[in-house]
Amino acid sequence: MVSEARILIAPSVLSANFADLGREVRAVTDAGADLIHVDIMDGLFVPAISFGEVVVDAIRANTDVPLNIHLMIQEPETLLSTFAKVESDQILVHAEACGHLHRTVCRIKDKGNQVGVAINPGTPLSAVEDVLPLLDMVMIMSVNPGASGQSFIPQSLDKIRRVKTMIDQGKHDAQIEVDGGIKADWTAQDSVKAGATILVAGSAIFNHQESIPDAMNNMRGCFLG
Ligand code: DX5
Ligand code: ZN
Repeated sequence: MVSEARILIAPSVLSANFADLGREVRAVTDAGADLIHVDIMDGLFVPAISFGEVVVDAIRANTDVPLNIHLMIQEPETLLSTFAKVESDQILVHAEACGHLHRTVCRIKDKGNQVGVAINPGTPLSAVEDVLPLLDMVMIMSVNPGASGQSFIPQSLDKIRRVKTMIDQGKHDAQIEVDGGIKADWTAQDSVKAGATILVAGSAIFNHQESIPDAMNNMRGCFLG
């Protein structure tokens, strides 16, 4: 069984109650969230629009935990001054959304932020291979991006294993993050066994079946053997 200490849990506020967002962010922070995952959707790269800078500022004002900002934005380089303005935040862009991925990654690093690249379920790992040495995170999307509450795509496990091999063989530092359909069950356990060390979880943490502390404990507990 993998040591739980090195697995980071990143609750995705997309599933939170936005009428009470500050309280929800404080609750996941108090319950031990390692990162707060923030989904920015532009209505172009993905059909939905989520929220923008004002809401991100409000989230930041309610937690000391670094934000893990997932930009589902076409050509995110144009909005880096908006979303990469606090150095402790981590910025993730999609390989599919960047015409000049290497340049975008370098610009984020130049701002002092940790940087990750996400790839959709239908995108091959080759899309990220040449920037892998530059990355703090590579994010395997285990659903098609655009909404919370979707089912984990099982083929993602093999992709996590393959990117882990690429990272190990190249002696790179990137952590493997997985986003979409993660629950406190085999989806989290098998993702960790495959090599993921950052788990994004939206509907598994913010739901009406259990309290936020219980949901966080269940997620952590599923790695203990
Ligand atoms: C999907 C988002 C995810 C989503 C995860 O496009 O990128 O971060 O909020 O939600 P769950 O964990 O419910 O699949
Ligand atoms: Zn996300």
